[in-house]
Amino acid sequence: MEPEPLITIGETRAVLDRLRAGGRSVGFVPTMGYLHDGHGSLMRAAGAANDVVVASIFVNPLQFAADEDLDSYPRDLGHDRALAAANGVDYLFAPSVDEMYPNGAVLTSVSVADLSERWDGASRPTHFAGVATVVAKLFNIVGPCRAYFGEKDFQQLTVIRRMVADLSAPVEVVGCPIVREPDGLAMSSRNAYLSPDDRAAAVVLRQALDAGLASVAGGETDPDRVVAAMTAVVDEEPRARLDYAAAVDPATLEVPCSLGPVTRLLIAAQLGQTRLIDNCEAVAPIEDRPDR
Ligand code: PAF
Repeated sequence: MEPEPLITIGETRAVLDRLRAGGRSVGFVPTMGYLHDGHGSLMRAAGAANDVVVASIFVNPLQFAADEDLDSYPRDLGHDRALAAANGVDYLFAPSVDEMYPNGAVLTSVSVADLSERWDGASRPTHFAGVATVVAKLFNIVGPCRAYFGEKDFQQLTVIRRMVADLSAPVEVVGCPIVREPDGLAMSSRNAYLSPDDRAAAVVLRQALDAGLASVAGGETDPDRVVAAMTAVVDEEPRARLDYAAAVDPATLEVPCSLGPVTRLLIAAQLGQTRLIDNCEAVAPIEDRPDR
């Protein structure tokens, strides 16, 4: 069944408040549209744990810098409605920019210091404040809920978890595993930008993560050496330009002096005009864990 469209903030609040008053739990999947099976997996997870699923589609201008792809960001509401319907979404909130930002310029910003500044934040200095601001606004509109985010944007997930904790938002954040194409490329709306040659080369991100995983699994605890293993793989692919590779503490996103039992490997690289990110969890072999 097609999801019921919600256009205004007022009707979205009214519908969801009524459902909660009737004792129904709400699962929320915020998106920027151009949906793929990664979004589908979030919708299915929301449906499995909640009585009602609402998804939002809003290409948020605040999270794009002036030289980024806001105008060309792919949009296809018809396709998105069908994908949302196939994945059990009950309500689809797709507001206009005017509905979300009726005063034009936004004078209030939510920014999560420190976590937002490193890695992607170093390349995109205004990005995470734009994300945190719109997500805080969406949480205010949707109200108490479980909210589903993909681990593909691991730094975003970390920033949002911290925002929710710091602001005591009545939201339980649920992180969901990355969904990959058969060759290992993480699904992303921006994959649509890749030329056939860049698409073929893009698998290098997954291969670099695999090299990092093998290094950690082999007992390496020096983050620089793990990063060197990842970097060497990207260096072999002439179509890819590495932005960063990192082995970080999953909670703080900081590089530890020595890797602990669980590390997050992060990578970002440019393929043609398209910047791609990916990440994975790396677990140290049992015998090397410092607590043993
Ligand atoms: O991950 C996204 O699609 C966006 O950053 C989000 C969380 C919907 C905020 O615009």
